[in-house]
Amino acid sequence: MKIHVFEDEARLAHAAGELLFNTLKDKPDAVICIASGNSPKATCAAWVEKMKQTKLDTQRFFFIGLDEWVGIDPDQKGTCRYDFMERILIPLQIPPRQYHLFDGMAADLQEECRKMDAVIASKGGIDLMIVGIGMNGHIGFNEPGTPFHLHSHIATLDEVTTTVGQQYFDRPMALKQGITLGPAYLQEAGKVLLLAQGEKKAAVIRDAVEGAKSTERPATILQEHPDAHFYIDRGAASGLLSMQEDE
Ligand code: F6R
Repeated sequence: MKIHVFEDEARLAHAAGELLFNTLKDKPDAVICIASGNSPKATCAAWVEKMKQTKLDTQRFFFIGLDEWVGIDPDQKGTCRYDFMERILIPLQIPPRQYHLFDGMAADLQEECRKMDAVIASKGGIDLMIVGIGMNGHIGFNEPGTPFHLHSHIATLDEVTTTVGQQYFDRPMALKQGITLGPAYLQEAGKVLLLAQGEKKAAVIRDAVEGAKSTERPATILQEHPDAHFYIDRGAASGLLSMQEDE
């Protein structure tokens, strides 16, 4: 993994948006997976803006939603689908044949996982994953302790996730489970970008970069990835022992 430290969120989002744009310029049929939540919000805005300005072809890429809360109405503000639709799929007018999102309301969630794995396999894997990192170090809904070999799976959410997750919703929600791409996808993706902003993420970033590789620290799976990049601001970098140069 390589660490890139940015002076502020705007510069970080600009760089990550450019990376997304260039990925599609080089490979118009790329398969792209992005997280929901706060971390990629400005990046998505920068990317969508650039796509619109340049009128780059949007008709061939395929979008995969990283994860979803289980049992929550998908049209409700706060769900992952809501973010994907609002930030990317509606503004870029991407039709349903060009994306696949988990249905967290599906009666058979195992089947939902199989469907996701089949879609990704049929596309030849994921070219670029853009993820955040939770306050407990999770990526997607891969909580600490998740085996690295898992593909799509159903996760029991830990208390940090269910508590922090309330911020996305307008009212208190019963968050218990998530459905998510597993750590194996991070290992197998062509390129991975992990975004983190703010001092509150400093401890989990330090663990991800300097901690020993362990399922207890899900992001350590990226340590040996040949093309994994952490795009972090100075706050998120503030716990790192080794000197990091600004981008
Ligand atoms: C969301 C997701 C989560 C978040 C993480 C950080 O789709 O997969 O793992 O990326 O909880 O959340 P934010 O970015 O809101 O700090």
